Amino acid sequence: MAQWNNGSFSPNPTSYSSISNRTISLLSRNVLLLLLAFFVLLGVFIIPWTGSPLFPFPNRSSSSPSSSSSSLPSNWHDYSLAQAAKFVAKDGTVIVCAVSYPFLPFLNNWLISVSRQKHQDKVLVIAEDYATLYKVNEKWPGHSVLIPPALDSKTAQNFGSKGFFNFTSRRPQHLLQILELGYNVMYNDVDMVWLQDPFQYLEGSHDAYFTDDRTTIKPWNHSHDLPPPDRNGVTYICSCTIFLRPTNGAKLLMKTWIDELQAGSKAYEGNDQPAFNWALNKTAHQVDLYLLSQAAFPTGGLYFKNETWVKETKGKHAIIHNNYIIGYDNKMKRFHDFGLWLVDDYALESPLGKLE
Ligand SMILES: *[C@@H]1O[C@H](CO)[C@@H](O)[C@H](O)[C@H]1NC(C)=O
Ligand SMILES: *[C@@H]1O[C@H](CO)[C@@H](O)[C@H](O)[C@H]1NC(C)=O
Ligand SMILES: *[C@@H]1O[C@H](CO)[C@@H](O)[C@H](O)[C@H]1NC(C)=O
Ligand SMILES: *[C@@H]1O[C@H](CO)[C@@H](O)[C@H](O)[C@H]1NC(C)=O
Repeated sequence: MAQWNNGSFSPNPTSYSSISNRTISLLSRNVLLLLLAFFVLLGVFIIPWTGSPLFPFPNRSSSSPSSSSSSLPSNWHDYSLAQAAKFVAKDGTVIVCAVSYPFLPFLNNWLISVSRQKHQDKVLVIAEDYATLYKVNEKWPGHSVLIPPALDSKTAQNFGSKGFFNFTSRRPQHLLQILELGYNVMYNDVDMVWLQDPFQYLEGSHDAYFTDDRTTIKPWNHSHDLPPPDRNGVTYICSCTIFLRPTNGAKLLMKTWIDELQAGSKAYEGNDQPAFNWALNKTAHQVDLYLLSQAAFPTGGLYFKNETWVKETKGKHAIIHNNYIIGYDNKMKRFHDFGLWLVDDYALESPLGKLE
């Protein structure tokens, strides 16, 4: 049977055509002729603007960049961030993640959970390599963009490696570009699972919203200000979940983060998070910052390690982050162990469907 995903494109072109054939056999010749005329008009007037969000279904045939055959040249290569953001944005908001090919299973897992909260349509996958760009756009046309330069697909993106640094250091640049285009942007790492709609927690109209990566338990009514630095003079804000409005304040924060990364790239040893914390520290008096609730956005160092706390805060969790663990297989196993590895049983809830 054909599998259709709520409010999104069919992940599978064959299911599309089987439905069309059956439908056509039920139609009278007159209706068919009308339809034909309609499609000719559509072809003449609409196809040149298939990148527009006004046209909900991308043209899957001749001129489309769909990579139905991998041997054919594809023009997803020329898909710009501006086109892609315009295509996916809803209510002026884009949800982005950045993914390299080895992380597609995590992307799919995260997407299932995003789809359950009905926010998948605004997801834009920033592909770190061409294999990811083509794979995602083949399954889900228009939802992936590559901002050059691309990484080598084969490079495993291990935390702490130089490759990982190159990968994460591009994050503030991509976010700044989306802000400059005028969109709100929600950034997520893909080793996450949504249990509730995180947008309900974006109270007020602050410039930037973020989460604390410290495991220390806070009272449920903790302050939403930037936390004070610890004994070592540092904060541990996570660079993993960030929501920004297209304000001067949010842009200044991203620019300062880029400056900090460039100034201290050696000291940060492949991690963009300390630079983000220094950027928050330096701009705290100019930028309207908002710390999200710990119960809703717990660090993995708390959620996966303190069962008592998880029980006490039951029903309050919005996004679970599978951090405070090293290694791809360990991460996957932990999601399995906690019932958060959704792709084995629920892949069809993802707009990407099953990845084989
Ligand atoms: C990191 O990026 C620099 C400059 O873009 C490049 O020369 C270098 O080869 C990259 N390193 C890795 C490990 O990807
Ligand atoms: C949180 O609640 C406690 C007791 O209910 C109160 O004493 C404290 O001042 C509150 N803290 C904040 C930041 O509102
Ligand atoms: C910034 O960091 C310095 C050094 O740790 C600290 O003294 C200062 O209070 C921080 N400022 C803010 C706004 O957190
Ligand atoms: C775990 O959570 C409970 C309940 O919040 C807390 O009392 C306890 O101190 C926490 N344990 C650790 C090791 O942080």
